Amino acid sequence: MTDLDSGRARTAWIRSRMPLLANARRTFSETRPFEGRRVGMSLHIEPKTAVLLETLAAGGAEIVATGNHGSTQDDIVAFLRSQGMTVHGRRDDSFDDHLANVAAVADSHPDILLDNGADLAAHVIRSGAASSIIGGTEETTSGGLRLRGELAGQVPFPVIVINDSMLKAIGENRHGVGQSVVESIMRITNLMIPGRRFVVAGYGWCGRGIAQYLRAFGGKVAVAEVDELKAFEGALDGYRVGALDDLAEWGEVFITATGQPGVIGEAVFDRLASGSILVNAGHFPWEIDTEALRRDSESSEIDQAIEVVRRPDGRELVLIAGGRMVNLAGPSPRGNSLEAMDLGFLLQSLSLERVATAPESLGAGAHGVPDDIERTIARAFLAALGADR
Ligand code: NAI
Repeated sequence: MTDLDSGRARTAWIRSRMPLLANARRTFSETRPFEGRRVGMSLHIEPKTAVLLETLAAGGAEIVATGNHGSTQDDIVAFLRSQGMTVHGRRDDSFDDHLANVAAVADSHPDILLDNGADLAAHVIRSGAASSIIGGTEETTSGGLRLRGELAGQVPFPVIVINDSMLKAIGENRHGVGQSVVESIMRITNLMIPGRRFVVAGYGWCGRGIAQYLRAFGGKVAVAEVDELKAFEGALDGYRVGALDDLAEWGEVFITATGQPGVIGEAVFDRLASGSILVNAGHFPWEIDTEALRRDSESSEIDQAIEVVRRPDGRELVLIAGGRMVNLAGPSPRGNSLEAMDLGFLLQSLSLERVATAPESLGAGAHGVPDDIERTIARAFLAALGADR
């Protein structure tokens, strides 16, 4: 099968399972909110993103896009190019290639940005090209932090930060990540969940979902959380709650979902039983201090996602996916569920529509997703789910 055939077939399957975006495509093909507009995108290039881009194109957008470093799927690039989109990048790009791709998108004079980590916004501001942009969206928390931090006061156009949405927090971070992290641990390790002792570090949106789905499979779950209100919530949700150091000897599998560096480090490693398994679900591969873990130790790779680290005292600790996001790792990774991304990408589509058709309703700088958009999507999701049946 050629790349193009594979990309076409895989996108067709994903498209068939994204009913919310299908509705948006139908509406956009009549209302054409992006007519005459060029949308510049920097986001993971995989089949669900392809369906998002098709939706924008149905609304009249010209697409100029690139992926994130290391995750671009070449068959999807081939398919998108066959649809007349300009797509930069390939899976084996170096980091410098990737930066050049982001620059190429930013320099293509887009009217609207679909950004990830605020890379496009930072580039157009630095290069003095921001005045021609009418607005954009930002997918991530870290991009939202940049827009409100180092770039505050310099962004002359409105940016809707998708990650601020309660709908995304519930639909994607809690239920999408919860399901896919547990699925990935099962797929990668092939171990039994029921009766096993899990420690989830971080009881935010992702941690809540991971704990919930582990328990649903019969796991015994403890929560380690530094925010006392969230620890309180974890306790009332029925989990054992404690400090990570104290749970180190109790747990068998440890999962981080905090967004913070070095959450599991030397102090915890020293107390873990031999055979303990270490998993990260957070965005950056820094929540488990893998450098300290491997120091003076011998590592053997069992396969692409399982590494056994033999510590100087002879204990063996098992690191999954090298500490990278577990739900995008291992054989045949699927990421978050289709429905969770249908929801997340409808948020993107309707937010971009708002930017294209009513930028003056937003004003310059970072914004949350407008409440009416969240409520419209919540109603559409309930209907698509058949929640009343
Ligand atoms: P959140 O802010 O809702 O939750 C993080 C929690 O971790 C907070 O409650 C915080 O108090 C807690 N925390 C911080 N430091 C801690 C420590 N040292 N020990 C214990 N708890 C600590 O954030 P959310 O949405 O749950 O995201 C968590 C991470 O997951 C982020 O890195 C985010 O980017 C990532 N993420 C991963 C996805 C995936 O597909 N794997 C998808 C969405 C988000």
